[in-house]
Amino acid sequence: MAAAAAPRRRARADFVLAWLGLCLSTAWAVDRSNFKTCDQSSFCKRQRSVQPGSSPYRALLDTLELGPDALTVHLVNEVTKAVLLLELQGLQGNMTRIRIDELKPLRARYRVPDVLVADPPTARLSISGRDENSVELTVAEGPYKIILTGRPFRLDLLENRSLVLSVNARGLMVFEHQRLPRNSFSDKVSLTFGSIWDKIKNLFSREGTKEPAEGDGTPEEEAAGKADKPEENSEKDDDEPGAWEEMFKTHSDSKPFGPTSVGLDFSLPGMEHVYGIPEHADSLRLKVTEGGEPYRLYNLDVFQYELYNPMALYGSVPVLLAHNVHRDLGIFWLNAAETWVDISSNTAGKTLFGKMLDYLQGGGETPQTDVRWMSESGIIDVFLLLGPTASDVFRQYTSLTGTQALPPLFSLGYHQSRWNYRDEADVIDVDQGFDNHDLPCDVIWLDIEHADGKRYFTWDSSRFPQPLAMLGHLAGKRRKLVAIVDPHIKVDSGYRVHEELRSLGLYVKTRDGSDYEGWCWPGSVGYPDFTNVKMRDWWANMFNFDKYEGSASNLYVWNDMNEPSVFNGPEVTMLKDARHHGGWEHRDVHNIYGLYVHMATAQGLIQRSGGVERPFVLSRAFFAGSQRFGAVWTGDNTAEWDHLKITIPMCLSLGLVGISFCGADVGGFFKNPDPELLLRWYQMGAYQPFYRAHSHMDTGRREPWLLPPEYLGPVRDALRQRYALLPFWYTLFYRAHRDGHPVMRPLWVQYPKDVTTFSQDDQFMLGDSLLVHPVAEPGARGVQVYLPGQGEVWYDVQSYQKHHGPQTLYLPVTLSSIPVFQRGGTIIPRWERVRRSSDCMKDDPITLYVAISPQGTAEGELYLDDGHTFNYQTQNEYLLRKFTFSGNTLTSSSADPRGHLETPIWIERVVILGAGKPASVLLRSEGLPESVLTFQHSAETSVLTLRKPGVRVSADWSIHLR
Ligand code: GLC
Repeated sequence: MAAAAAPRRRARADFVLAWLGLCLSTAWAVDRSNFKTCDQSSFCKRQRSVQPGSSPYRALLDTLELGPDALTVHLVNEVTKAVLLLELQGLQGNMTRIRIDELKPLRARYRVPDVLVADPPTARLSISGRDENSVELTVAEGPYKIILTGRPFRLDLLENRSLVLSVNARGLMVFEHQRLPRNSFSDKVSLTFGSIWDKIKNLFSREGTKEPAEGDGTPEEEAAGKADKPEENSEKDDDEPGAWEEMFKTHSDSKPFGPTSVGLDFSLPGMEHVYGIPEHADSLRLKVTEGGEPYRLYNLDVFQYELYNPMALYGSVPVLLAHNVHRDLGIFWLNAAETWVDISSNTAGKTLFGKMLDYLQGGGETPQTDVRWMSESGIIDVFLLLGPTASDVFRQYTSLTGTQALPPLFSLGYHQSRWNYRDEADVIDVDQGFDNHDLPCDVIWLDIEHADGKRYFTWDSSRFPQPLAMLGHLAGKRRKLVAIVDPHIKVDSGYRVHEELRSLGLYVKTRDGSDYEGWCWPGSVGYPDFTNVKMRDWWANMFNFDKYEGSASNLYVWNDMNEPSVFNGPEVTMLKDARHHGGWEHRDVHNIYGLYVHMATAQGLIQRSGGVERPFVLSRAFFAGSQRFGAVWTGDNTAEWDHLKITIPMCLSLGLVGISFCGADVGGFFKNPDPELLLRWYQMGAYQPFYRAHSHMDTGRREPWLLPPEYLGPVRDALRQRYALLPFWYTLFYRAHRDGHPVMRPLWVQYPKDVTTFSQDDQFMLGDSLLVHPVAEPGARGVQVYLPGQGEVWYDVQSYQKHHGPQTLYLPVTLSSIPVFQRGGTIIPRWERVRRSSDCMKDDPITLYVAISPQGTAEGELYLDDGHTFNYQTQNEYLLRKFTFSGNTLTSSSADPRGHLETPIWIERVVILGAGKPASVLLRSEGLPESVLTFQHSAETSVLTLRKPGVRVSADWSIHLR
């Protein structure tokens, strides 16, 4: 006994020492000089220097053509005479799409493929009015009208005569049309005009560069014929530094195609609250950027990122949501190049008092937010999602880009990771540790050191000599393993993966056509060109069990560094003039690269099972549509209280733009959390969608049992709460998958008229049922929980105490408290027999928690399937049950008759919160005689517990309180 306790004590002592060490070390933070500011990004600087009110663009109304699916009209820049083509579409479901490209581009511009799940169905536009400078359009099936103004070009969207959104109302549109460099430039680089033209043509006549994007003209087609003979550039912006070649630190971006940026502004009258455009380590509600840096969207590996600033991070979703008490709308800017977003507001900086004064004096302006998008290349392709409710916006956006993939059940359990679990014995020990300490866990993770010299798809033969035996051991425990597979490939002629990619020509190339090489974990590496479907297919095949030796069906995958991270590249990423399949520059595709890695890996995991099993893939980089491929996490955070807090707005922002499966490294990646912070993080993570502890190799070990006992107990509790709620989580994910509703939601989604909720970053909802306010302050004795909703009641899930909304409740807390409230009017399913892993629980009986509303009603649902295959889709093997409580009767019925599932699951208990004591309780179930149920009632808490209804979950039944 004593011998066994000694190593544990030592480990605990290490834990405390490591923490003390870090407390004494000096503060660290991101090295900002490694990342560009807007001023250092030449197109951002050029665009930001364009002032409102002087738009040179005019819509030539006599070129207007109205087809069955779109309206087209030419736009001319009255200064440069460049002509653009505007294509306007009404889309079904209350959306509008605007595309603007050059009418005759010198070279085709990148149109982002593979993000939209289908061509969005259009709604017919018709002309309902016209004068000499404007055209009024009506959208079939839509409640709104569009007014196109010729000079200066502008679009206004109106609903019932009130203005909802305007495009280019501030005249900030920018479209840098392509042209050849000036002679002065060609002199500088010792090239004649003719030779540059030849050079450009050559760039596109290389073999293998023919693939068009989204079915449009290839660059070479455009260059060879369709385009007008290019004019020689004569514009003043070419003289600006950075227009034709840009330096950042020691890196030069050759910019062979010159300035190609696009930008557009959107005005949102009546809007003061905007959200979205992740990923930023910032508040949920976006801030005004005037006078500071715009929010940046450029997937980057930011070492030791800082909080509360608009710097770019690992992923980008160019979607912004606006909300006020009357409506919601969204702007989806489909562009994969570096993008900056400026936000301004006419009420920014005004106090509430100031605004009231304005109003009383009758001089107050309508509040308005203006949003300006600026991207380095590509076309303007923007979707206006016109709501009018938040759930309409979610439905609209996910109808375009897809919904959250339905995760395998195990992936909603707890994941134990660290960089690195040393060897097989370590993995087995950690696995055993969970059993020894009676802690549930589903997955152990292996980081880069498991592979042979960081050659992914291989194993270090001395530390992981028998991966299949290790996987078999975990399978015996009904657990899984996740192994990391990064998308950089060690340049090593003895490494099969490298040799094949090289010989197949599947690496990203430099602008000169050789394989692009950079530095990453393994040393010198190549970057597979995931934008090429051939590459993705090749990669997917690598996950076949015969290709990825030592892998088995309980091995899943983690893609890291897929921004891509290039240690010696500009801003730790790839040179923008690197070349991808089809001749596109890295500049064009940067933000979608990570999505393609995620896509190819998910495809591989599906393929290896013959299309039967659902994949689980975690990705660090992401883009619009990444939700279709799995989970994401918020990267290398730090063991600090503020980093714990920021997990809420970071994951909420992702949920708003379709990516529900989000989590943060529990405990913080860098530094050592003290026991209290680690515990609070376990509690926070238990209520966030992706629940994984992970840490840097320089941190002390921190498996939960290394915590002092007074912390371990509450960690166990948090894990158990997570596992008990798995049926609820799974049902929420099903809803996200089917309808696009975020799993984790800001309160304002549920309470759109309650302004108190509009800027809340410290609490959130899970579905429409649970309100969670995790403790995120050191030494907390209590928290202020805002319980919204006029006439709403909230039940504390621990004490069952009932509280009325709206109110700010001071709730005393202890170390073990996780303030969670179930909304009166909801029914939540739980698995209360917590076991070793989710797989051990999947056939367990269900307990229903019925929280009665003041009207005496409640409803909820439960989704079940086999937890891991696509049979729910291909064979309709699922159950969707609806539970309704009303008139003192609880009823279970099918919410979707298409689904069917053979399942042993039954209802073992019903707990009714807010109930009086009945005289008797009767159960009626299909094909069974009526029976009397035993029950227990607590007068003190008003909780009625019905024991053993014993009915099958798939059956229709009702329970009557008499
Ligand atoms: C990156 C990842 C981190 C991982 C490390 C080593 O920093 O974000 O999670 O542990 O690389 O692979």
